Amino acid sequence: MRVLVTGGAGFIGSNFVLRARETRPEWSVTVLDKLTYAAHRDSLAPVLGDGAADVHLVVGDVADEALVDRLVAEHDLVIHFAAESHNDNSLEHPWPFIESNIVGTFRLLEAVRRHDKRIHHISTDEVYGDLELDDPDRFVEATPVNPSSPYSASKASADLLVRAWIRSFGISATISNCSNNYGPRQHVEKFIPRQVTNILQGIRPKVYGSGTNVRDWIHVDDHNDAVVAIIEQGRLGETYLIGADGERNNLEIVATLLDLMDRPADWFEHVSDRPGHDLRYAIDSGKLRRETDWRPRYGDIRAGLAQTVQWYRDNPEWWQAAKVHAEQVYAQIGR
Ligand code: NAD
Ligand code: TYD
Repeated sequence: MRVLVTGGAGFIGSNFVLRARETRPEWSVTVLDKLTYAAHRDSLAPVLGDGAADVHLVVGDVADEALVDRLVAEHDLVIHFAAESHNDNSLEHPWPFIESNIVGTFRLLEAVRRHDKRIHHISTDEVYGDLELDDPDRFVEATPVNPSSPYSASKASADLLVRAWIRSFGISATISNCSNNYGPRQHVEKFIPRQVTNILQGIRPKVYGSGTNVRDWIHVDDHNDAVVAIIEQGRLGETYLIGADGERNNLEIVATLLDLMDRPADWFEHVSDRPGHDLRYAIDSGKLRRETDWRPRYGDIRAGLAQTVQWYRDNPEWWQAAKVHAEQVYAQIGR
């Protein structure tokens, strides 16, 4: 099978490609990535090359109609990770989110329709808005979209395009909406790697607002294994929520990181809150578990975080330059 992975030089996409080389060596993989600030070409270095067994990297934009048309025609399956992905950036500069996340998805859908190929669209639980802390219900596939930020609105828009192309044009597509990922190779602008690299540099973790906001954490390998399970065992036209019952508030995550990294429990600071900050996300992944054999392998979030901390300790050359840039951006917005 010839697989086109968009956004394969980013956090989740690069972990997907590295893992697919091991678990699905029979796939031939091409990565289409614009190599934005969020990409790390180095993440793919072990698998890139010109040989038949190597991963090929095409540097380009998913919103480039001609390029996307040609690449989709040459592949059997598109796995669409590419997106602008950071809420804080979307609040400052929304346009790239509209162009990459909405227009880019539209270009892919049209090419998939023209060439009769299959697409799996990667999305987020953030399209459903947020829950109260004591809400007994979690997100399910039928939860109405209700996005809060330009980022989540752009992802909800893309999801709706995919659903419409399934219904109106009968394209072969599946959608997954996953909760917050953590693990190796995540950009240091995001919550967990920002705090890990702060602590490694002797800087206190920075918690937005009260720190009581809850995210439903899942290890990136568990997310990517679920994507493969949906591709191989899921039903065409369906949406699947991916989650590993990992609800923690931000104070709990910081406490675990401080403990793992031998710092006092109160060695962090509160900074100003994010405007429109979603309170809680929580996923009910019952449908995925009923219809596929997928189960999360990282049940213990503390062990997953310990592995993640070790990866950042071992790979300072991977993150140090991006850290300087990310902290300049945070300094400008006062967080
Ligand atoms: P990331 O920002 O680390 O990586 C995104 C990648 O997409 C980068 O390599 C970037 O260069 C590329 N890209 C951006 N715009 C592009 C364009 N126009 N054309 C081609 N390439 C482009 O993001 P991530 O955290 O790896 O997220 C990947 C996907 O998973 C996104 O669709 C995101 O919405 C979704 N998702 C993320 C999470 C999470 O916790 N990070 C959770 C659920 C879903
Ligand atoms: P983030 O990693 O940006 O993911 P998302 O906004 O998609 O959930 O943030 C995760 C949580 O951590 C969110 O509640 C915001 C919070 N946060 C902090 O408290 N401090 C930080 O420095 C960052 C980047 C995020």
